[in-house]
Amino acid sequence: MVSAHDDRRRATGAGRTLAALLAGATLLASCAGLRTAFGGTPALKDVFSDAFLVGAAISEAQLIRDDRGALKIVRQQYNSISPENVMKWEVMHPLPRTYDFRAADRYVTFGERHGMFIVGHTLVWHSQTPAWVFEDSAGKPLGRDSLLARMRDHIFTVVGRYRGRVGGWDVVNEALADDGTLRDSPWRRIIGDDYIALAFRYAHEADPDAELYYNDYSLEEPAKRAGAVRLLLSLHAQGVPITAVGMQEHNKMELPTSEQVDTTITILSGTGVHVAITELDVDVLPLALSSGGADVGMRASGSPRLNPWTKRLPVPVEHALADRYGDLFRVYWRHRDVIDRVTFWGVRDSDSWLNNWPVAGRTNYPLLFDRHGQPKPAFAAVVRVAR
Ligand code: GLA
Repeated sequence: MVSAHDDRRRATGAGRTLAALLAGATLLASCAGLRTAFGGTPALKDVFSDAFLVGAAISEAQLIRDDRGALKIVRQQYNSISPENVMKWEVMHPLPRTYDFRAADRYVTFGERHGMFIVGHTLVWHSQTPAWVFEDSAGKPLGRDSLLARMRDHIFTVVGRYRGRVGGWDVVNEALADDGTLRDSPWRRIIGDDYIALAFRYAHEADPDAELYYNDYSLEEPAKRAGAVRLLLSLHAQGVPITAVGMQEHNKMELPTSEQVDTTITILSGTGVHVAITELDVDVLPLALSSGGADVGMRASGSPRLNPWTKRLPVPVEHALADRYGDLFRVYWRHRDVIDRVTFWGVRDSDSWLNNWPVAGRTNYPLLFDRHGQPKPAFAAVVRVAR
């Protein structure tokens, strides 16, 4: 199995030379076409090979029929993959006695075939988890012991199946509320606060070599960040095996500021864990929710004012997006000693969940590749950071 740490250690002399050549070549690259002196687009995985892994989330549709070439970009650009939905509870374990691994197997096989660091996402979450998980056969709420047994069975079955193949798991997703207290989820209500520590212990037992992550959004908000620090320190004090904290990084154009991201990485890594940027995108559209954050349960209704660029992104906004990505990557680069991986949440703008969240049917431009799979000025800005 490839671990993110090992992978970085394997950035040998040869890797470095290639990275240096590519970095030099990008000096000659034009922003528009981004052709290097060698006639190709530079690959993020090479450009950042000395710093961190670079990944993308891929979907079941792409794995079944990649008719528009997203996986070609993934193969060229990235050395890690995350499953956008295929490893969520509702997909892999839809009924009490039914596991369905078809899509997840396809995902893992793709990653193995291309020598990528494969992320598992996500074992314990309040969302995209069927209601039956928390109920008995009569529809009554489960007790602590029964829900713990169910959680353990799920973790052992799933992590056990991909033992030695999936390099790291988002064990618990989004357990914190905005005010930094533990979220009032069915997991916590039924089991108690220790469901988090127990999920990590089960995952470690199921695959002792896998990296284990706690993953959440809006960790730059001081109250939530303080809650994350309390959680990480408490896990640490209990001897719970945890490798890294995942900062999802579903960003807006202005917020969080790159200074807030910088401070947050310093504070979180100060607890002794590594950091992974796990779900990076930048929402360029007018804000539809007053609350901020990335709660998938939130919805807003649409209006033309909220969907201003249905044909193309205006050039000044395109450039502002490039500057935003450049600023973020300068922060990640500065913290490359503690950052193991930077993963985008999608490949091309057309793939992004942000076309449908929190308002359905908008045209968003949050990633580095446009709807035709071409690199955008934001891609060039990111590559420039590594020079
Ligand atoms: C959260 C989850 C992801 C995904 C995104 C939206 O961040 O962790 O799995 O559902 O929301 O696509």
